[in-house]
Amino acid sequence: MFEIVKRDGLARIGKFETRSGVLETPALLPVVNPKICTVTPKELYEEFGFKALITNSYIIKNTPDLKAKAQEVGLHKMLDFPGVIMTDSGTFQSHMYGEVEVTNEEMVEFQKSIGTDIGTVLDIFTEPYWTKEQTAESIEVTLERTQKACDMKGDMMINGVVQGSVYPDLREDCARKMAVMDVDVHPIGGVVPLMEQYRYLELVDVVMSSKKGLNPNRPVHLFGAGHPMVLALATLMGCDLFDSASYAKFARDDRMMFIDGTYRLQDMQSLDCNCPACRGLTLESLRKMGSKERMKVIARHNLYQITDELALVKRYVKEGRLWELAEMRCRAHPAMLDALRRLEEHQEFMERYDPISRDGAMFYTGSETRCRPVFRRYMSRIWDRYVPEMSKAALFYDEGSKPYSRALAADFDRVRRSGYTPVVVSPFGPVPAELDELYPIAQSLFPVIEDIETMLEAESSTVEFLEHKFSEVVKSQDVSDDGDQEYDADLIRAKAVSRYQFGIEATDALFKGKIELVVSRKTGKIRNVISDGEHVLSMRAGDGLYTLRKEGADRIVSAVPSPFMRVKVNDDAVPFVSEGRNAFCQFVTECDEGLKPMDEVIVTDKDDKVIATGRIMLVADEIRSFKKGIAVKVRSGSGDEA
Ligand code: GUN
Ligand code: ZN
Repeated sequence: MFEIVKRDGLARIGKFETRSGVLETPALLPVVNPKICTVTPKELYEEFGFKALITNSYIIKNTPDLKAKAQEVGLHKMLDFPGVIMTDSGTFQSHMYGEVEVTNEEMVEFQKSIGTDIGTVLDIFTEPYWTKEQTAESIEVTLERTQKACDMKGDMMINGVVQGSVYPDLREDCARKMAVMDVDVHPIGGVVPLMEQYRYLELVDVVMSSKKGLNPNRPVHLFGAGHPMVLALATLMGCDLFDSASYAKFARDDRMMFIDGTYRLQDMQSLDCNCPACRGLTLESLRKMGSKERMKVIARHNLYQITDELALVKRYVKEGRLWELAEMRCRAHPAMLDALRRLEEHQEFMERYDPISRDGAMFYTGSETRCRPVFRRYMSRIWDRYVPEMSKAALFYDEGSKPYSRALAADFDRVRRSGYTPVVVSPFGPVPAELDELYPIAQSLFPVIEDIETMLEAESSTVEFLEHKFSEVVKSQDVSDDGDQEYDADLIRAKAVSRYQFGIEATDALFKGKIELVVSRKTGKIRNVISDGEHVLSMRAGDGLYTLRKEGADRIVSAVPSPFMRVKVNDDAVPFVSEGRNAFCQFVTECDEGLKPMDEVIVTDKDDKVIATGRIMLVADEIRSFKKGIAVKVRSGSGDEA
């Protein structure tokens, strides 16, 4: 069973429950060659903290003494490893050396007999140079074998490998067919040659097309990916598990892994690594070591690089900044930069899972930052939901200080008194004054010296938007300073944020009758919206977005038909949720498909009666497929800010 604890982009920090314990993801499984054991499984567990490893059942089966031992005492005892053990099936050997002399059934049976936690189907490795026909035919065989493996698996978990060479449609189709089988983990296979040849651009299409077809409630394993350089990007794309044989293979021929690539010992100019394996060594002393000892040092160094980067990836996921780490890492090699740029093609899919807001500020790292879904989300929301209060626009340029309405207060007031809406051309595109405090506009940092691509894109999207939404557009300096029109900037903002967040219909219901705004005396920011005496919304100071109060939820439910903003739970959950406990996936019967992670939602019973409000943690298709985990973090009825 798999559960998401925290997310960012398509990345998830998850808990994967197995027979040998709960594995926190993302996790990397070092490959242990049972014949060699450069670093012992016990050391991997205790010293490096690897709670799972992968070994090869085909090698064990074909080595008589290992086979006998594994069948006699079981794999965990044989390897002396208390964590989770995954085994591969011989597919990789067929990729390396041609046909293997075993059947799928034999391999599944054998893996069961040695007590593997997660066994692998004998899938067919689809090479990147294969034709589409050849690939499609072999996928049929892999699918049949996977079905067979599921029928035979007993209490062993099964890896159902998604294949499809470099054909995105075949990948997605294969993934969809795997998704309905009783598979436990989905490795994405056939990608090792792509990584060896630095074909990261195609790797992005392969991973994303596979992800599109898969069931979100199972961990995804990127088979053969273990270089620290790719971990941030692969995690961002939603890969949960990785494995590395390279740490040991590279060590055998004196190659050291670093976050920016792999270096040959003979080419290195210095050994500037302070990991526990290298500490105290110089390049000279390492070169002079005996080959066996040196291999051990390098293998351990490589493992430390992997564990350090994985820990960093997890921290960035928790901080909601994984895009930033991935963008930085992708600058290590032009082929990785291509991968990052390619991700823009998949923005629409990624946007479905991108949280509506994050805790900290987002940093721009370069023009590729525009590939992030927050840009697309902002533009599409203002196109659909922005309604100008004043039909003429006065144009300003972003000069770096935010929020704009504070930095440009006097100028904004001048144009507003003349009947113009101030609109700033920002790197996100057009920002009407009343939207300047919401996420991500105010919570973002851009360099003062701007990239030409970003600015051109921002300008053209602004022009298009203004032509569509306003009757007249002028430069701010051309507006006279003698206007005397009255306006209520707070009320304009209060409504505009509501439309941006909840849409036009819901906003009409929330802002009915007499509106009073409670404004913070200290910061001047809106705190509460009171409509006809009812406190319907509270604005969060951090992201400038609202939390929805029960009174507001009642209004929306009366005005906008289900399933809009609703998460419906069954009768079993009603007593708990109405007391303020969280709503768990297994109790949800229906959910608005348009909701994004961290959106404000209304929890209702089967008769559409409001029982709570809160923030949704997963999107609709995830809630449907997960058997565990929080769907909605419920806010207690007392109405404080969440
Ligand atoms: N190891 C690396 N790639 C693969 C793959 O495609 N299938 C299997 N079973 N193992 C792999
Ligand atoms: Zn080191």
